Amino acid sequence: MKHDTSASPPSSSPDTGRGLLAVRGVSKDYTSVHGETVHALDDVNLTVDEGEIIAIIGPSGCGKSTLLRMIAGLDDDYDGEIAWERPPRPGRDIGFVFQEPALLPWRTVEGNVRLGIEVQKERLDRADERVATLLELVGLSGFAKSFPKELSGGMRQRVAIVRALAYDPRILLMDEPFGALDAITRDRLHDDILRIWEETRKTIVFVTHSVEEAAYLADRVVVMSPRPGRLQAVHQVPLDRDRSPATRELPEFARFVGMLRGELR
Ligand SMILES: Nc1ncnc2c1ncn2[C@@H]1O[C@H](COP(=O)(O)OP(=O)(O)OP(=O)(O)O)[C@@H](O)[C@H]1O
Ligand SMILES: [Mg+2]
Repeated sequence: MKHDTSASPPSSSPDTGRGLLAVRGVSKDYTSVHGETVHALDDVNLTVDEGEIIAIIGPSGCGKSTLLRMIAGLDDDYDGEIAWERPPRPGRDIGFVFQEPALLPWRTVEGNVRLGIEVQKERLDRADERVATLLELVGLSGFAKSFPKELSGGMRQRVAIVRALAYDPRILLMDEPFGALDAITRDRLHDDILRIWEETRKTIVFVTHSVEEAAYLADRVVVMSPRPGRLQAVHQVPLDRDRSPATRELPEFARFVGMLRGELR
C-alpha cells in the first residue's frame, strides 16, 4: 500500500502535541533472490507527533531500516497503512540521512547544502543566506568552499544532515547517522542535533544501535523485537527535554540505559 493520505489522520498522544503521521498495522514480506519469503515486519503500529524525537532500536535485521524507508516513501510495497496528517510532498517534506553521507564529490560543502534548496525552485532567492545559516548551525562556516574529500567523516555527516534540513522538511529521518563515527565525534554530533532541534523543532525519527544515543536524544524510544520486527515496547524517556553532556552523568540516565539494554537481551 502507498502512503495513505485519504485515511483518517493520526490522533495525537495525550502528552505530546499534534499527530504528524500514524503507522497502522504495517507488515512487510521480502522475497529473497532464491525465492524465499522473509517476513521482515509484523503488524507495526506507531504514532509520530509533530516536534518529537523518536529513536528506534533493535537487533540487526529486525526491520528498522525497512520501517524508516517506508515512512520515507522509498518503499511502498507493504500491508497496512501510513497515514499523514497532511500529505507529504515528494522530495520536500521528508529529509533522509543515510548511514554513509551521500555527498556529491564535485560540489563544495556549500554546493551540497544548496542542492537541498535547488530542488524547490521558488526559494532560490534566499538560498545563500539559508546555506550560511545552516553551516553555522553545525560549525562548518569555515569549510563552505571545501570539497567532501577534504572533510573528516564527522564533518561529512554534518553536511549530510544540514543538506537534509535545507529544504525545510516536515520530518527528518536518519538511519544510523552516526554509526561509523568515533565516540567523541558522535557526542559532538549529538549536541549538534539537539541544537538543530532547539532552533527548528523538527520532528526527528532515527535508527541507532546505541542505547545511550537513543536515551540522550529521544523523547520516546521504540524497541523492536528480532525478526519479524514487532514493536516490543515504546518508552517515554524519563528525562527533561533540555539535554546536555551533564545528562549522561545522571543516575536516571544510567537506569534508563540499563533498562533498554536489558530489553534488547
Ligand atoms: N531488498 C531486500 N530483499 C530481501 N530481503 C531484505 C531486503 N532488505 C532487507 N531484507 C531483509 O529484511 C530484514 C530486515 O532488514 P532491515 O535492513 O530492515 O534490518 P535492520 O533492522 O535495519 O538491520 P541492521 O541493524 O543490520 O541495519 C532482514 O532479514 C533482511 O535480510
Ligand atoms: Mg538497517
